[in-house]
Amino acid sequence: MRVTLEEAAQLLKTQVVAIPTETVYGLAASISSPDAINRIFSLKGRPRKNPLIIHLFSPDDIESYVESLPPSYDKLATLWPGPLTLILDVKVETIPSTVRANLRTAAFRIPALPLARDLLALTGPLVVPSANLSGRPSSTEASHVEQDFGLAFPVLDGGVCQNGLESTILSFSEGKWVVLRQGALPPEIFIPILGYAPVINVPKDPLNPECPGQLYKHYSPKARLSALEGEVVVGFTERSYPKPVINLGSLERPEEVAHHLYDALRKIDEQGYNTAQVDLNFPETGLWSTIRERLTKAMQP
Ligand code: TXA
Ligand code: MG
Repeated sequence: MRVTLEEAAQLLKTQVVAIPTETVYGLAASISSPDAINRIFSLKGRPRKNPLIIHLFSPDDIESYVESLPPSYDKLATLWPGPLTLILDVKVETIPSTVRANLRTAAFRIPALPLARDLLALTGPLVVPSANLSGRPSSTEASHVEQDFGLAFPVLDGGVCQNGLESTILSFSEGKWVVLRQGALPPEIFIPILGYAPVINVPKDPLNPECPGQLYKHYSPKARLSALEGEVVVGFTERSYPKPVINLGSLERPEEVAHHLYDALRKIDEQGYNTAQVDLNFPETGLWSTIRERLTKAMQP
């Protein structure tokens, strides 16, 4: 059920509403509504040990929650509003333990999409995980949310998400910022800000990572994906393939491929294929690295 901005704000006093951001759609609940926060976990089938990102209107709102701010925090905060999430040490009594999954840290993001900002101005802080069933591809348009949660589920329709990939998550560890989750901002973007490209954190135990978004399998359609064979190819505009194609976009434009990625993964199931071949022959740098990471996780058996 599509709802207006005012209806979404009203519903969010007690309920979960799907909302657009510039990255992907999210399932939002007010940080002051414990029942709605609980419902997010049951709706998504999300393990309770996987914490939620707190979405705020302004970086100024972060001060009341945090214990201390790491070096270069102010410089990173200049990228807000935008697709960046920072993990910060918090005063635990200011944030429900369900949101933090009992950690002493929490994730913060200031989204850039004007409709999301208008909503936050009305509601105050929201916790917003991606609007997909746990383990499935994220949603980048309102119809994807309806595929996962049904036509009756309230959705604030903001059109197709501009980035199409989730925010980049950074945390400060052993004197440097590290990437906990690759995302819409590739590590090179941070060089002028930090003086270095944050290293991508590889979980010591892949089955129990620091950031559960690092789990081995994620973003997966129901169909079985492979680099070698399948009934349909997930591929690129410039190439021709000897079978039906679900097009990711141009090899010249990684932003376009990111924008189409989750829709393409969802289309494999929508179009009734049981298997799909993924063309992984594309560059390694910049946004391509995030695209490869998502496809590789989607391909895990
Ligand atoms: O772009 C995005 O970030 C989207 C939109 C809706 O804002 N949200 C999103 O949320 O991707 P979600 O819940 O699908 O992914 C959040 C990730 C999870 O992998 C979670 O483990 C990690 O953030 N996370 C949250 N709090 C954390 C914390 N305190 N420490 C480490 N990782 C944390
Ligand atoms: Mg997610």
